[in-house]
Amino acid sequence: MGTARVVFDRWADRYAARLAGVRSSAVRDLFAAASRPDMISFAGGMPEVSQVPATAVARAAHDAMLHEGAQALQYGSSEGRHQTRALIVELMAETGVRVCADDVVVTAGAQQALDLLGKTFIDPGDVVITEGPTYLGALQAFSAYQPDIRSIPLDSDGMRVDLLEQELARLGPRGAKFIYTIPNFHNPGGVTMSAERRRRLLELSHEYDVPVVEDDPYGRLRFEGGHVKALRALDDEVIYLGTFSKIFAPGLRLGWVVAPRPILAKLLLVKQGADLCGSNFAQVTAERYFSGTRWRRVLQGLTRTYAERRDAMLAALEEHFPPEARWTRPEGGFFVWVELPPYVDCQNMLAEAVEHGVAFVPGDGFFPDGRGRNCMRLAFCYAEPPAIEEGIRRLGEVLEDRLELYRAFIAAGAIDAPAAGAA
Ligand SMILES: Cc1ncc(COP(=O)(O)O)c(C=O)c1O
Repeated sequence: MGTARVVFDRWADRYAARLAGVRSSAVRDLFAAASRPDMISFAGGMPEVSQVPATAVARAAHDAMLHEGAQALQYGSSEGRHQTRALIVELMAETGVRVCADDVVVTAGAQQALDLLGKTFIDPGDVVITEGPTYLGALQAFSAYQPDIRSIPLDSDGMRVDLLEQELARLGPRGAKFIYTIPNFHNPGGVTMSAERRRRLLELSHEYDVPVVEDDPYGRLRFEGGHVKALRALDDEVIYLGTFSKIFAPGLRLGWVVAPRPILAKLLLVKQGADLCGSNFAQVTAERYFSGTRWRRVLQGLTRTYAERRDAMLAALEEHFPPEARWTRPEGGFFVWVELPPYVDCQNMLAEAVEHGVAFVPGDGFFPDGRGRNCMRLAFCYAEPPAIEEGIRRLGEVLEDRLELYRAFIAAGAIDAPAAGAA
């Protein structure tokens, strides 16, 4: 990793105070190291866009220009093109969520929707509830609006709704602005919220009058197990975020938000201030790409590829990781979450791992308060199986070195052995 140069900033006293709590994304920071040719990166959750056929996208863009060039090059409506919203309605219906085009606003990726939600809902000091760990892009987007983030632990069935209930009871009715959750193939946790927990979460949302934000970028990337109904399919009050990033390509920067109409009207106001409107060109291209059936085969192929990579990572972890490590077994998506004994500091271990040619994201980036230092997120979506095997072997070696030392300390009684527990 390059050494950061300290540059005197003469404007340091002019920036808005709210920026003080915004941290740089640990994943973005790793991009430079991750692009070294010898590096095996488990850091970024990057879709395998090489499997999206260039010819199909070129044809879509070509047709977009040829048939709808005047609109594609023009400003558009802030809520997005009607045709794009109609496409989103169809895609959502396929996964059991019934909405109509007027319930949808097109955004520049789900990431923009997170920022718009922050701007719409959060005043400094407002409580926002997330899972812990949670998507670091959400923490980054929300933290610009200075919330008090309370994170609720995850287990293999998703958010611990019993602990959520305790938190809501402490806060009282309407005590939080919203509850943010990633129910399918969690980023970074890899776990999926059970149907029972989903129902309980919605009950609690009504009991305490706190809206739920459901972020679902990975829902269509299931490798095994049965589909679990979206929260939005169970409750029209849920604010749902979707994206084309994982079913098509993130380069288009196309996502969407579905919300009750009054909330949608506020989000739209805020969006106008942010960008006037999204890219018409990207929208027309997406409409054309999704107009045939080829995208379905591409998505099936992508899902198969990710499943193979997940299998390769789980097998390599089994073989090369020390017995003290615990990890999740995702049924879809991009990520495995690894938990190590509490005395292992993954942040501190990263430089050594990078020296050995392997990168990951240390766990503390996924918490608002520095927890998670003994955890790491491993993205299996991007490296090919032989590289995954080799990368996990390298990482296992780095870990083994560290743990050997700690085992000696534990044997000598210098530190306590950690209690056993599943990640
Ligand atoms: C949970 C989650 N939400 C939102 C996003 C942002 O996605 P988009 O590319 O649609 O902005 C990501 C991207 O990885 C994600 O993992």
